[in-house]
Amino acid sequence: MIDLRSDTVTRPSDQMRAAMAAAEVGDDVFREDPTVNRLQDRAAELFEKEAALFVPTGSMGNEIAVKLHTKPGQEIIIEERGHVLNYELGAASLISGVTIRPVKSVDGSGHLTWDEIKPALHIDSAYWVTRTALICLENTHNFAGGSVMTAKDCADVCEKAHAIGLPVHMDGARIFNASVALNESVADLTRDCDSVMFTLSKGLGAPVGSILLGSKDFIEEARVWRKRLGGGMRQIGMLAAAGMIALEDGPKRLNEDHENARRLADGLASTDGIEIDPATVQTNIVIFDVSGTGKTSGEICSRLKDAGVLAIGISDTQIRMVTHLDVARTEIDRTIGILQNLLRNN
Ligand SMILES: Cc1ncc(COP(=O)(O)O)c(C=O)c1O
Repeated sequence: MIDLRSDTVTRPSDQMRAAMAAAEVGDDVFREDPTVNRLQDRAAELFEKEAALFVPTGSMGNEIAVKLHTKPGQEIIIEERGHVLNYELGAASLISGVTIRPVKSVDGSGHLTWDEIKPALHIDSAYWVTRTALICLENTHNFAGGSVMTAKDCADVCEKAHAIGLPVHMDGARIFNASVALNESVADLTRDCDSVMFTLSKGLGAPVGSILLGSKDFIEEARVWRKRLGGGMRQIGMLAAAGMIALEDGPKRLNEDHENARRLADGLASTDGIEIDPATVQTNIVIFDVSGTGKTSGEICSRLKDAGVLAIGISDTQIRMVTHLDVARTEIDRTIGILQNLLRNN
């Protein structure tokens, strides 16, 4: 099977498995796992933040951040296709008691400018208006097709948010993809964000784990909430050992995934009935429209599956394919061939 459903499907390499087997471990709830401590210190160093916390999932990292930045009854602002709003199962309302105000990004990039955010804010409104407590950004933006937000654009939002006392959280699940695509460091891309989550288990290739970053005090409180939510883990040095390899080596090869994504987009653009502008593919996510084929995305994905390719229909008319370390360039070419064949033969 050529599995293009997500970059979460990657399997740990032999090197990772060997490192996991050899990892020094301790009880991480007691802060005694040396491998976890090393991973957290290294992540904090790379992002130039005071402290870091290993969390089992990106969702938990995001939701702890929402919890710490807000009070029940307040509101957070996020682009309308954002992960925290659409794919975390209402956790922000359940865990933090906040509502979410979705905002449209006018250029479709998924990255909100201050001009788009400003009209949605309620800071000095009457007491009966739901108060804005947090702005949540996402880089790269998953459901806007892996689009990137520059350090400058992020800094601009942060500066204006901070000027009115609003914190900014960065859902940087794929921030290393943005870093490679823009040739800007992850530290620069998240410099002024009050908290950042990034994922080890997507394009970087670890089997599990994400990291939450912020100030020392923020991460101390995050540790409490991780435990409260059932995420206090014990001898997880084995997972951190895989995470360390993902963090050090993973970013070095993301460019290959981006090249494969562009190759896939070019092939799709030359396929009858498929709409995609390859110029919009900046990282490893390719979203294309199949309306012109006369088939639904569900029908196409099911026929692709029969032919050995896995992809996800994100709406009736749109399919998402994600490149990653377990998909070679030859498999991209095979995917294009299979899809063109399948559409030709109705
Ligand atoms: C942008 C974004 N944020 C957060 C997450 C959540 O990560 P996890 O699946 O580890 O909870 C994902 C997962 O796909 C994502 O794409």
